[in-house]
Amino acid sequence: MRPLFISLLAVAAGCGGNVIPDMGTMNPPVEAKFSSLYANYLNQCANCHAPGSPGAGTMGIEMTLNFASAATAFSTISTGKAMGLVGNQKECNGVSFVTPMMPARSLLVAVLDAPTRAAFDLPSAPLCAQLTITDETVKLSAAPTGDYIAKLKQWIMDGAANN
Ligand code: HEC
Repeated sequence: MRPLFISLLAVAAGCGGNVIPDMGTMNPPVEAKFSSLYANYLNQCANCHAPGSPGAGTMGIEMTLNFASAATAFSTISTGKAMGLVGNQKECNGVSFVTPMMPARSLLVAVLDAPTRAAFDLPSAPLCAQLTITDETVKLSAAPTGDYIAKLKQWIMDGAANN
């Protein structure tokens, strides 16, 4: 969508001498809602964490998560626990992805945000911590923005509803 908008505006500007507006303002901002968080980043996790996806058969992949749709993503992150991890990461098997109102105790945040990973500390799984939690952002083409992480934490602080 975005390149098309830019080229159309460039044509318009060429004819009428209009000033091209700041395109950044035309992207809908990420909201602290699950639908927005999914559409803006988490949908890409389906490349591996979805049945039949290219990466689904990877040895030792986390097997509960299913990012195929916003509905499966919400249900697996809100009710499931990490499963299938091997090697160092196996310390995180059994850990919840989202703990409502506690972003610091949510594995979903820890795999996306280095400070959360560094401070991760669960009494129930003390070895699921900085060195055993993978940085999942390196598996996508880009890391989420600081604003995205803030909205993700806000959504969890607000109770992690299916909104
Ligand atoms: C290229 C394939 C791939 C993509 C894309 C991917 N993952 Fe993973 N994920 C894995 C594999 C493989 C593991 C097992 C740990 C490892 O080997 O890195 C894993 C592990 C995890 C874990 C458990 C981590 C731990 O150490 O406890 C979580 C949570 C997770 N992924 C969430 C996500 C999220 C959220 C996204 C999207 C932002 C994502 N993954 C994108 C392949 C992928």
